[in-house]
Amino acid sequence: ARQRVDLLVGPAAQVATPVGGDGRPPAGPAQGRLSLIPGGAVAVRGGRIVDVGPYAEVAARVEPAATLDARGRTVLPGFVDPHTHLCFAGWRAEEFGRRLAGATYQEILAAGGGILDTVRHTRAASEVKLAGLVRERLLEVLRFGTTTVEVKSGYGLTTADELKMLRAIRRAADPGDDLDGTWPCEGLVLPEVVPTFLGAHAVPAEFRGDPDAYVDRVVHEMLPAVAREGLAEYVDVFCEAGVFDLDQTRRVVRAAQALGLRARLHADELAPLGGAGLAAELGAASADHLLRIRDEDIPRLRAAGTVATLLPGTALFLGEPFAPARKLIAAGVPVALASDYNPGTQPSGNMALVMAIACLGMGLTPAEALVASTLGAAHALERADRIGSIEPGKQADLVILGAPSYEHLAYRLGTARVAAVLKAGKIAP
Ligand code: NIG
Ligand code: FE
Repeated sequence: ARQRVDLLVGPAAQVATPVGGDGRPPAGPAQGRLSLIPGGAVAVRGGRIVDVGPYAEVAARVEPAATLDARGRTVLPGFVDPHTHLCFAGWRAEEFGRRLAGATYQEILAAGGGILDTVRHTRAASEVKLAGLVRERLLEVLRFGTTTVEVKSGYGLTTADELKMLRAIRRAADPGDDLDGTWPCEGLVLPEVVPTFLGAHAVPAEFRGDPDAYVDRVVHEMLPAVAREGLAEYVDVFCEAGVFDLDQTRRVVRAAQALGLRARLHADELAPLGGAGLAAELGAASADHLLRIRDEDIPRLRAAGTVATLLPGTALFLGEPFAPARKLIAAGVPVALASDYNPGTQPSGNMALVMAIACLGMGLTPAEALVASTLGAAHALERADRIGSIEPGKQADLVILGAPSYEHLAYRLGTARVAAVLKAGKIAP
């Protein structure tokens, strides 16, 4: 008897997906390994993928309640964006102009602008106002094909404002929350959100010159409050010259781990401080940015199983050198890609554009970029058992691209049309 399914997607010009294999993050040669099914189809039932293969074979095995024709289109796993700061109030367009005129990101931050400018606007916004901004951006990235997205706090920098940010993120991600009557929930489809506490994102003006006192506040007041309310899955620290050093970062992460949070780090973005080595030492799920990773830390990442999450849009936007992606892949370190979506260093959450920049700037192949944005990124968020590839048993998170092959993602510089997105089997309106 044929299996009843909710939806049959296909026939498609191509179904393109990484394959989970041994459950370890794709690395080395596997970093660029895709399963390509010309004329493929995907069957969905109860929000999960139940069958994948050539259309004629899948169609003969299932009895679909509905079908979604994908002729001329490519079916891909939903994109996973494992590093964003999309909870913020206030854009920084004028800072863009100042940087183009020669001011550096660090100079602007040291003068009380940059992140601290966003902190002022975010502190002034109410929880529900912020939640509305987050929800708009979640829907924006879903339209770009992102079905799972990590979102950090870090623009509050007081206990109350960090909690406000994390509560806003939680509310925004809950499709049943109408945000105090401001948002119709009818038919709302949202990406899954992974919340990260980034209280150690910058030293706020009140603690200027005394970062250790601020770290004390993060460790003794913020972290316990975040853990008590269960508001974050991960802790992150902006481990950077002039921001938080290795010892301060270690203190925050150890305290968070004692409370049950997992770690991910901003590492070696602007200065070669050794953040990647620290991420490995601390067993972090991911070390992010790595524009200036030290050579000796590369094997440490590999040995620790820490994913290297690269954000090439940020390197481009800051006019900094790209991370040594080819070196990392050659060394067998699993690589993920992320947008960094934030008002200062990457005001876009378009993962296809990130893939394009990864290919053009770091020499990834289009296949490596796709793997890094799906299964690799799912590993960076420790969810690869559920998401990141089109395989039976996984959540039905799918992108239907209005182009005949996966290469169009990178090739078209982020402009290939996303014709439809499925989140856990639900078609986003
Ligand atoms: O990943 N590096 C620190 N945080 C962000 C930038 C945040 C901001 O400038 O607002 C980043 O680049
Ligand atoms: Fe970041």
